[in-house]
Amino acid sequence: MKDIKSYIAENKVPNHIAIIMDGNGRWAKLKGKPRVFGHKNGVTAVREVIEGCGEIGVNYLTLYAFSTENWNRPALEVKTLMSLLVSSLKKELKTLQKNNIKLNAIGNINLLPEKVNIELTEVIEKTKNNTALTLTLALSYGSRDEIVNVIRNISKKVVNNQIKIEEINENIINNHLYTFSLPDVDFMIRTSGEKRISNFLLWQLAYAEMYFSDTLWPDFRKENLFEAIIDYQNRERRFGKISEQIEKINE
Ligand code: IPE
Ligand code: IPE
Ligand code: MG
Repeated sequence: MKDIKSYIAENKVPNHIAIIMDGNGRWAKLKGKPRVFGHKNGVTAVREVIEGCGEIGVNYLTLYAFSTENWNRPALEVKTLMSLLVSSLKKELKTLQKNNIKLNAIGNINLLPEKVNIELTEVIEKTKNNTALTLTLALSYGSRDEIVNVIRNISKKVVNNQIKIEEINENIINNHLYTFSLPDVDFMIRTSGEKRISNFLLWQLAYAEMYFSDTLWPDFRKENLFEAIIDYQNRERRFGKISEQIEKINE
């Protein structure tokens, strides 16, 4: 059988993929193990999708790793997730460098434990000149929190006469989001069968194609990613226009 990757059209690879990595806890439970066992095994899937994106030339990959709401989980689970983050960042730096991957983070990073913050800042700094793939981790991220921040920051500028109210437009809002340096999301994937956004990139997903996979995150592999991308490539993104207008552009 032909390798699934060979069915991907090189000229229609999504520029920015965002993934809600969900189902770690259920994966562990099915195996009779504690939830954190699922988180630990989720790291393999993270490596796989990063590698897969590299192979087909995706420019931006954003991973939802920890939401503002996840702070409300049992303390031990939060603690384990934070330690896992520190050890993964330490371990993966070499691979990021080797593969020319630039690390970026979005979210209320100040809420993260100091150890995580130090490691994160270091890896971001060390990989800042890499150019192949921008890997963004959404950490302590919530879209509503992000929007509140945008409104506060723009309001301050209005009060200080740096921006006039009439000047506020989509571009200015974009430039104040945590994602200011990233393009719009083209393709959003959520694993584990849940069909919701869970406070992820509400503004940025405005015209993203959505894909929901039943696979639990620790089982997600490159092939699952490629299958999702083939599905994406068979869709017509109309952006409000009609089919005939889109065909003309593609001619
Ligand atoms: C996703 O898996 C990882 C995080 C939210 C940190 P979950 O931990 O949500 O796993 P389920 O959804 O309970 O199975
Ligand atoms: C969303 O998953 C957050 C991450 C994947 C980091 P959750 O498991 O926290 O979302 P809900 O609670 O099912 O909506
Ligand atoms: Mg979940």
